[in-house]
Amino acid sequence: MLVTLEKAISILNSGGIVAVPTETVYGLAALLNKPHAIQKIFDLKKRPQTNPLIIHIANTQDLKPYVKEYPPLFTELTRAFWPGPLTCILPIHKHLIPTAARASLPTAAFRVPSPQVTCSLIEACGPIVMPSANLSGKPSATLPQHIEHDFGPEFPILQGSPHAKGLESTIVLYRNTEWVIARQGAISQELFTPILGYEPAIIEKETAPLCPGQHFRHYAPKAKLFLHPNKEAPVILGFIERSYPKGKEVLYLGSLLSPEIVAKNLYDILRSLDLKNITLASIDMDFPRYGLWLTIAERLMRAAESGDSLKSQ
Ligand code: TXA
Ligand code: MG
Repeated sequence: MLVTLEKAISILNSGGIVAVPTETVYGLAALLNKPHAIQKIFDLKKRPQTNPLIIHIANTQDLKPYVKEYPPLFTELTRAFWPGPLTCILPIHKHLIPTAARASLPTAAFRVPSPQVTCSLIEACGPIVMPSANLSGKPSATLPQHIEHDFGPEFPILQGSPHAKGLESTIVLYRNTEWVIARQGAISQELFTPILGYEPAIIEKETAPLCPGQHFRHYAPKAKLFLHPNKEAPVILGFIERSYPKGKEVLYLGSLLSPEIVAKNLYDILRSLDLKNITLASIDMDFPRYGLWLTIAERLMRAAESGDSLKSQ
């Protein structure tokens, strides 16, 4: 149910939660200074307590009370990408951030979202925590109907057309002597090079991932997904330029010429598999492996993971 900015402000101030548009995906917001509301987010999403949340602020000055020290080139990074889909993990003064929001870590993740309505909400209420607005393990929500599907038709959603990129923010942190990418996202790896003077490494597959969230099953519909052609699968996730075997239903991710549009469609298509009760599908993974395509490939591979190597939700 779409609600106005005034209504969203009043819900947050009274300790409630509300879905909020961002330029990446929808978030589920609670006020940073309301630990009970933060706990409601974990309960509603069925999110493991060990998976910390991103703190959304209105501008860089809002960081001041929380952050212990700023790594080299932090200012350059935020000047280049904030407001926008960059999340920075920073060392913090722990007592100022509720334990649940940071999952007991000595660090916290911060970002400045770009939609005006979202910044107005933060300016009116103070910093908000927002995980993506989906049940844990499911594809993120990029449309209001995705939120209503997961949390019911009465769930409040702040109105605003976010022109969403469709992929979550890129998460970075400073480790040893360099910035690294802890979660690929809407800002692709090579866009950092002019700012940092080097291409940050993507570190997602360590035994202890830099983002606890990378441990868990993610972005997954119920259907079993194959990352190569499969005779048994009646459905193919593919591209408009390609032709596929007769008799298969094709769900088009978009065009090989536009990873931006593919990113925008991605979660809606993954969610549509469940809506259509599809149990087997194969994905045409024959697309480039640079820029935004790298993030798209990572999300599709995670959507297809059996969950054996990942903790179940
Ligand atoms: O685009 C986005 O980032 C969206 C919108 C709503 O802002 N949010 C989002 O939140 O994707 P979520 O909760 O789905 O993913 C946040 C990720 C998780 O993998 C979590 O483990 C990681 O951020 N994270 C949060 N705080 C962290 C910390 N202190 N250290 C390491 N990873 C952290
Ligand atoms: Mg998420």
